[in-house]
Amino acid sequence: MDNLLQRAVPLLLEWYRLAKRDLPWRRTRDPYAILVSEVMLQQTRVEAVKEYYARFLQKFPTAQALAAASEEEVLKAWEGLGYYTRARNLHRAAKSIARDGFPTTYEGVRALAGVGDYTAGAISSIALGLPCPAVDGNVLRILTRLLADGRNIDEKGTKDAFAAQLREVYPQDTSSFCQALMELGALVCLPNGAPQCGACPWSELCRAKNSDMVGAFPVRAEKRARKVVPMSVFVLKNAGMVAIQKRPNRGLLAGMWQFPLFEGEPPCLGRVVAQKRAKHIFTHIEWQMTGYLVEAEERLPAYEWVSAEELKARYALPAAFKAFFEWL
Ligand code: ADE
Repeated sequence: MDNLLQRAVPLLLEWYRLAKRDLPWRRTRDPYAILVSEVMLQQTRVEAVKEYYARFLQKFPTAQALAAASEEEVLKAWEGLGYYTRARNLHRAAKSIARDGFPTTYEGVRALAGVGDYTAGAISSIALGLPCPAVDGNVLRILTRLLADGRNIDEKGTKDAFAAQLREVYPQDTSSFCQALMELGALVCLPNGAPQCGACPWSELCRAKNSDMVGAFPVRAEKRARKVVPMSVFVLKNAGMVAIQKRPNRGLLAGMWQFPLFEGEPPCLGRVVAQKRAKHIFTHIEWQMTGYLVEAEERLPAYEWVSAEELKARYALPAAFKAFFEWL
């Protein structure tokens, strides 16, 4: 066991007690609510999640309520959060919880749909009181700096190795410890040359800081560039109705509704009334979109035709298309 890490634990817990943010999911012990928050937080910033979390739990206050909802209702409540596979998986997880109860072990939590190692660790620590580390990029950053550990964090196995080290020093208050690690990475030990070492409870212990090497950690593999794809997006109108289509059930934005969309050059679908450009960044792809507001001469049968009101009220359109909503 690394003695330095052991000494770091009480300092971190005391700092967390005083400095932690008052976040809505820190006021509950309901494992279902914590599951909802952790799934939302997987790919979305804390500030954005706050609002969705409250609304989602108001609409679906229990796993039973969520399990009983239709997929369209769940996607609608998720609209704007992005990464919609999360919503579908959460829906499946709720069905399993409604049927079998909330799992009581790490393995049980990990087996829920959409729950990976990190989220299972977080839920186990926060909701179940289990000493199960949740190691993500933020936690790797603070630990590699504290220990001046030069392992490549993108290498397979590095996360597990740090998780094993953390398991050795896990304190009684598993929830605070897990969230304190996240909080230090979110508020103090910031990436890209912006660490606030003056505010850090570990500043005296930190090996990176003490050798003036904070910027050298964590060590990463080179990033693969995102693939840039030109797209043509059509807000296609005919007598007050607008065309939409459902995406395939697999892959990017699986099963979501969208405006008629074409990779590359646009086909001619009618008279172009306005045009604008927008981009949307996904994890591995960047869409460089050209949007066309088009008056169609007829309601092309390849599409569903809905009113703008219906579209807003009943269909979950991904945030990627938000730039073109003003044409509705
Ligand atoms: N990111 C992931 N889980 C979190 C939590 N419980 N609190 C703050 N940020 C988080």
